[in-house]
Amino acid sequence: MRPACASLDASALRHNLAEVRALSGARVMAIVKANGYGHGLTWVAKTLAEADAFGVASLEEGRELRESGIRQEICLLEGFFDASEIPVILREHLTPVIHDHYQVEALKGVRGAGRCDVWIKVDTGMHRLGFEPAEVPAVMAELAALPCIARQGLLSHLACAEDADSAATRGQIERFEGLALPGLRRSLANSAGIMQWPAAHTDWVRPGLMLYGASPLAANTPAPARLKPVMTLRSRLISVRNRHKGDAIGYGGVYRCPQDMPVGVVGVGYGDGYPREFQTTVSVLVRGQRAPVIGRISMDMLTVDLRAVAGAQVGDEVILWGQGLPVEEIAHAAGTIPYTLLCGLTQRLPRRESL
Ligand SMILES: Cc1ncc(COP(=O)(O)O)c(C=O)c1O
Repeated sequence: MRPACASLDASALRHNLAEVRALSGARVMAIVKANGYGHGLTWVAKTLAEADAFGVASLEEGRELRESGIRQEICLLEGFFDASEIPVILREHLTPVIHDHYQVEALKGVRGAGRCDVWIKVDTGMHRLGFEPAEVPAVMAELAALPCIARQGLLSHLACAEDADSAATRGQIERFEGLALPGLRRSLANSAGIMQWPAAHTDWVRPGLMLYGASPLAANTPAPARLKPVMTLRSRLISVRNRHKGDAIGYGGVYRCPQDMPVGVVGVGYGDGYPREFQTTVSVLVRGQRAPVIGRISMDMLTVDLRAVAGAQVGDEVILWGQGLPVEEIAHAAGTIPYTLLCGLTQRLPRRESL
């Protein structure tokens, strides 16, 4: 068996949910789409038994959660894509986001006894999905008249909440507040909104990334929550050899040893979802010490400079990101964001879950 795996820490996941509650004091819709940001959809939802609701991106994810026994509200964040999904939504008690008139029209065609709650999405400035603020009262009235609609809520999404001084976010909050209708449940804040914009907390928050222990804020911005990484990407040294000064390492021979030195081969590569391109040098942890990655990343392996790791030997555990090595740091060096690394682990990589 290859030594690469993603180990998943249930207590860290629960701890991060508690941090969300402590920061926001709001009800929590845990965002678990994209296979729980790569952590496993049902494992995340079952571990977060205390969450008030879950947010997913598709009917398939919603059904998978229901089939695994999840009883909380399940919100389809993009609603339905086709009217044929509505009977399943009603049967499985899912809660679609309604963001466009074609969805309202499709709901008007529903016959039968089932009912569902909905969230109305308003575009407060992201200009991706949602009704114009001025359209909202009429849309809500149309939906209120339909027998298949139970409760309605109002939801919007922040485009620039990572920037603590964003005029765009202030504008989005203002437009959202302008729509405060009595008795209506409301939701605006993602992770960055929860961390930096108390005025966006309203009564429901929608954390994704921070639940998994990573920060959406720019590098060097301290996260206000004490988050713990849920996923640790691990492997082992599968070879340790002393190389000579001038030896070229790996594909293309792009790294040449500056002196005689020990070089380790780690059993993980881009075929597992580890990035292949880096803009700055990145390290792994071996025996708690940083070992810089050298040469090109292969599909199943990568090579590391072991000069700083005394006594490194075959079989030593290697941490690629997670405990002791923030995924944000690896993402930054790869010119990307932690979201893509967590979601990008491939099918072949085993997940080892703690309880
Ligand atoms: C509508 C909506 N709400 C909440 C989130 C969670 O965002 P984050 O992972 O930044 O907390 C997302 C994620 O993309 C989203 O699309």
